[in-house]
Amino acid sequence: MLRDRLGIRTPKDGCSPQGQCGCCTVWVDGSPRVSCVTPARRVAGREVTTLDGLPDGRADRWADALVACGGSQCGFCTPGIVMRLAALESPDGPVSRSAAVARVDQALVAHLCRCTGWQSIEEAAARVLGGEADRPVSAGRDLGAAARRAALEGGAPQHVGPEVALGLGGFADDRAPLDARVAVPSGDGGYAVADTLGEARRLAGKVQGRRTTVPPGHPVEVPPGQWALTLRTAWVEPAYVEPDASWCMPGGAPTSPCANGGAFGGKKRSPVGEVARRLADEHGRPVRVLWSREDVVRLGPKRPPVAIGMAADGSGVLRLGVSGPAWTESEMAPVRELVAAVAPGLVVEQVPVVGPPVSTDLRAAVWAEAAVVEAVRRVGRHTSGASTGVPVAVTAPSGGRAVATCRADGSVEVTLCGGAVLDEVVLRSYGIGAAHQALGWVTSEGLAVDADGTVGDLTIRSFGILAARATPPITVRVEDQPGREPVNASDAALAAVAAARWLATGLAPAWPTGAVPHPG
Ligand code: FES
Ligand code: FES
Repeated sequence: MLRDRLGIRTPKDGCSPQGQCGCCTVWVDGSPRVSCVTPARRVAGREVTTLDGLPDGRADRWADALVACGGSQCGFCTPGIVMRLAALESPDGPVSRSAAVARVDQALVAHLCRCTGWQSIEEAAARVLGGEADRPVSAGRDLGAAARRAALEGGAPQHVGPEVALGLGGFADDRAPLDARVAVPSGDGGYAVADTLGEARRLAGKVQGRRTTVPPGHPVEVPPGQWALTLRTAWVEPAYVEPDASWCMPGGAPTSPCANGGAFGGKKRSPVGEVARRLADEHGRPVRVLWSREDVVRLGPKRPPVAIGMAADGSGVLRLGVSGPAWTESEMAPVRELVAAVAPGLVVEQVPVVGPPVSTDLRAAVWAEAAVVEAVRRVGRHTSGASTGVPVAVTAPSGGRAVATCRADGSVEVTLCGGAVLDEVVLRSYGIGAAHQALGWVTSEGLAVDADGTVGDLTIRSFGILAARATPPITVRVEDQPGREPVNASDAALAAVAAARWLATGLAPAWPTGAVPHPG
């Protein structure tokens, strides 16, 4: 109702009607509600407030604090989070920092953010709820330089500024004209087109989200050999929160599904733009193409499963699970090159697996796995047994470098080095986000896949993303190298934190290990 009939686009649709991501949160009579599971008839006669209607300059106060702390990257989750957190503001005035953090941790249970790792959102909330955000704390920064750093870390153009935190990042589906026809994937590989989203989904016979109780699969076997270290991984969902979307005018050019961020590489080859162009030309009307959360899981690429065996001297084999047609040598060559840059002793071979599409477009895919095993080998831990407090270093093929340490209490420390820093707030935020992703990757993330290759986990909560309450404190220190070319550094952080966390869990032979890093 809000987005499609009234054209109010600050509430986002990350999973409707699963009600699991919190992106669509609004207030009903002043209390936060997930709007995608709230029928309009149930709020008849009541007051509905969206981010656009927050009173007393509250939205600007929250946006300013989020920009100051790096608490919004792609910005897709942020309007819903602001609605939730703004409802915590007490009429009695500021609260203590510890009281604010406790309230915020609880409130964020209803939300998912894939980019920030939560901590910078909590810091922004502590500012606002603690009464520290009375002046524009993001003033004085070069937001152009901040955007350049964000683009390097995210792998796609990105804006940095209060408008992003206010839901105005320019997302494709927010800009579609209200009278555009709507196209959604149908089960036969085509698209169902109708005048409304509800009708298009009905025509398509939309698959409803479900979650399986089957654990994530490890389809690739470790090659035979005398290995000091072995690791097997599962299919992993990139889990970007903004589903693939585009729209196009007849005879026009389609909008990019990556308007404000790179979706961790997951949308690099998204077909939605070309589908929008073709259908707009066919129908002679603007057409908006929108994937549901279930479509993203069924159709989008996954991080490929791998199995690695590495001897004490660094020699070994990395087996890469490829579904569908075997990759050609020209497709494999760049993978081998990236792996050779971080773990020169590993031979890369592909093995066929039955499962969802995989892609090395995804953030640091395959080379980060190789870097993890090599980094652990280099610190000299070849046997099982948990080791905390051990710094683990990774230099990415980009030249970015990270050193990560997991402490016995679960906390994580990271030092990041990516050339000229450009904007410390943004780089730190990406470092925290990468650390959060790494912790989930090692301990809780992975997709269950049936024997016929069908993904069983179709809800956004079933991918294993660490919730705010399960995320330990992450300290990121940024090293500046003035005058040096800026390069991506957060991918190195992903690998370094994963390696440090793997050490801390005792080098379990398969991920996700199931170990929860923090009691929460
Ligand atoms: S879109 Fe409503 S909770 Fe995800
Ligand atoms: S900023 Fe939260 S999902 Fe991107």
